[in-house]
Amino acid sequence: MTEIIDGNAVATDIRDSLTGGVETLKADGVTPGLATVLMSDDPASETYVSMKQADCEEVGIESHHVELDTDAPAEDLYDAIEDLNGDPSVHGILVQMPVPAHVDERRVLRAVDPMKDVDGFHPANVGRLVVGNDRYRPCTPHGVQKLLEAYDVETEGADAVIVGRSNIVGKPLANLLVQKRGDGNATVTVCHSRTEDLAAKTRAADVLVAAAGRPEFIDAEMVGAGATVIDVGVNRVDADTEKGYELVGDVDFESAREKAAHITPVPGGVGPMTRAMLLYNTVKAAGLQADVDVALP
Ligand code: GUN
Repeated sequence: MTEIIDGNAVATDIRDSLTGGVETLKADGVTPGLATVLMSDDPASETYVSMKQADCEEVGIESHHVELDTDAPAEDLYDAIEDLNGDPSVHGILVQMPVPAHVDERRVLRAVDPMKDVDGFHPANVGRLVVGNDRYRPCTPHGVQKLLEAYDVETEGADAVIVGRSNIVGKPLANLLVQKRGDGNATVTVCHSRTEDLAAKTRAADVLVAAAGRPEFIDAEMVGAGATVIDVGVNRVDADTEKGYELVGDVDFESAREKAAHITPVPGGVGPMTRAMLLYNTVKAAGLQADVDVALP
């Protein structure tokens, strides 16, 4: 029997636990604050940011929002980040990616104070993660780990195959799963657009993570019997719906579920976990900055 991994349920449990952490902080006079920064008119980015704000409200985190015109000078964005770095009511800063082409993305990532870098994208935090001393795990990879844990999917000794080598998902997840600890200890293969005989590699996976941004391209032929399939893809494809599109993952769910032991749906799999782990990092950030011990799920 294939088990469908319920990301909404796991994310709800995590949010519920975080509410306790927020109460601990508030009892110490600290209201955790998350700033979202949007310099984009991409509807998907706008939606993601407004969902993150609503999530904050649900668990008692104060949300701050900064919006810049897409044609504003890049300096305006760097200055806005500097202001948020200096604002003691803001414990976490998230600059929604991608930023416009005239903005230096690397400079943006470096501009965020590493203590407020709840995305875990600052080079100092990336370095810490690689050496196994992470401060903030990037939200999507961390969410994938929490899903595996919630469904008792063992990573120790497992062959984990990640399709996609982005800085947001593929690379940090590979680094987490290879760490010498209980939620790691996997043998990790990272595949990408130049990988030869991709299907042979994906079929050998005990844990297969699809994070390539290609709609439904992993089908049953590419999945080994009994594998755990984690679909990180969120692709908008044209469809005869009210919105004119539907969301599909990188995995052809109906075909792949025939082979998988566990599989995440899209939507309702990894997406809610990414959002929950952003709240997790924000609560952690507030605890670190205010020197308050907060129990994290
Ligand atoms: N764009 C797509 N995913 C992410 C993410 O996890 N964080 C930020 N800041 N931007 C994104």
